[in-house]
Amino acid sequence: MTSRSFKAFTATTEGDSVTRAVVSLSTDDLPDGVLVAVEHSSVNYKDGLATVAMGRVARISPLVPGIDLAGTVAESGVDGFPQGTPVIAHGYEIGVSRHGGFAEYARVPAEWLVPMPDGLDARRAMAIGTAGYTAALSVLALEGRGLRPDHGPVLVTGATGGVGSSAVGILAARGFEVVASTGKADAAGYLRSLGAQSIVSREELSAEGGRPLEGAVWAGAVDCVGGQILANVLSRLSYGGAVAASGLTAGVSLPTTVMPFILRAVSLLGIDSVETPIEQRREVWRQLGGPLKPRGLDEMITDVTLDTLEPALDAILEGRLIGRTVVNVRG
Ligand SMILES: NC(=O)c1ccc[n+]([C@@H]2O[C@H](COP(=O)([O-])OP(=O)(O)OC[C@H]3O[C@@H](n4cnc5c(N)ncnc54)[C@H](OP(=O)(O)O)[C@@H]3O)[C@@H](O)[C@H]2O)c1
Repeated sequence: MTSRSFKAFTATTEGDSVTRAVVSLSTDDLPDGVLVAVEHSSVNYKDGLATVAMGRVARISPLVPGIDLAGTVAESGVDGFPQGTPVIAHGYEIGVSRHGGFAEYARVPAEWLVPMPDGLDARRAMAIGTAGYTAALSVLALEGRGLRPDHGPVLVTGATGGVGSSAVGILAARGFEVVASTGKADAAGYLRSLGAQSIVSREELSAEGGRPLEGAVWAGAVDCVGGQILANVLSRLSYGGAVAASGLTAGVSLPTTVMPFILRAVSLLGIDSVETPIEQRREVWRQLGGPLKPRGLDEMITDVTLDTLEPALDAILEGRLIGRTVVNVRG
């Protein structure tokens, strides 16, 4: 295997500070695995955390962040993924304790690779990315719990973000009445273009000191913010309702009571995208190319390159990013 030099975005930790830079690396700097010529990656909340000192995400330094990537197998040597195979990879240790997708090349263990499904290319796969995959797991968990479109409206919190936008689009495409909660006053048009039928302000859902059970409003919810908002969602779900919880942008605490669980048979479904067994991951991606593809996917995309990526990392940590930011690593 000949070594190749390539362009990469790195985060280097020294003491209490992290330096971000676009540098040249060699394939000799990459860990073992199948060599993937990366075409696109995306910006997820965890990528923002991997590039700041308080983030506590990066496990190596320097690190090439980027918890997801899509591209083509460049050198393989393993069955099933010959050279030229279009692939996706995300989660596990990628972009955390081994170099990730913000670079022109990455090495990924074959058992973490997902074949590119019919219906997607590298850019659109990363428009879905970790966020869209997490939204898909959330919707599948709710449907697995029995949620059907005729049960009533389904709430999505953090709706303009990556997980949120994807969840709005997936639920709308599957015939659910979607209620989108957002903290962005001017985002109603964007959310309606993805299929949201009504909008609730984040402020309204953030109130503290409510009753353990409020009026039942939603049959289900996809929540990626946690904290007081998740507690308020639990107290407003209808009998037998469920919320799929994946995130913590509003906080890690959950100030709730047992009342929604024991008086309304409400379920709290935990969602993790990082350690999903690979066969389940490949099956969910097959569906993301078809029946789980979010409505309005193209409307969600903002394109950046390795050179223009940095402001998006700051914006996602400040809750300012809308939709999905796709990184063209060869742009
Ligand atoms: N469990 C998993 O495997 C998994 C996978 C992916 C992501 N996540 C988690 O899911 C969350 C969202 O990730 P993402 O990539 O979609 O990030 P994102 O694009 O930044 O979306 C988060 C959204 O939350 C809302 N928000 C921001 N600050 C908030 C605050 N202080 N209080 C309440 N809402 C706030 C904003 O939407 P509005 O302005 O529209 O309200 C924001 O766009 C993160 O916590 C991330 O770590 C978990």
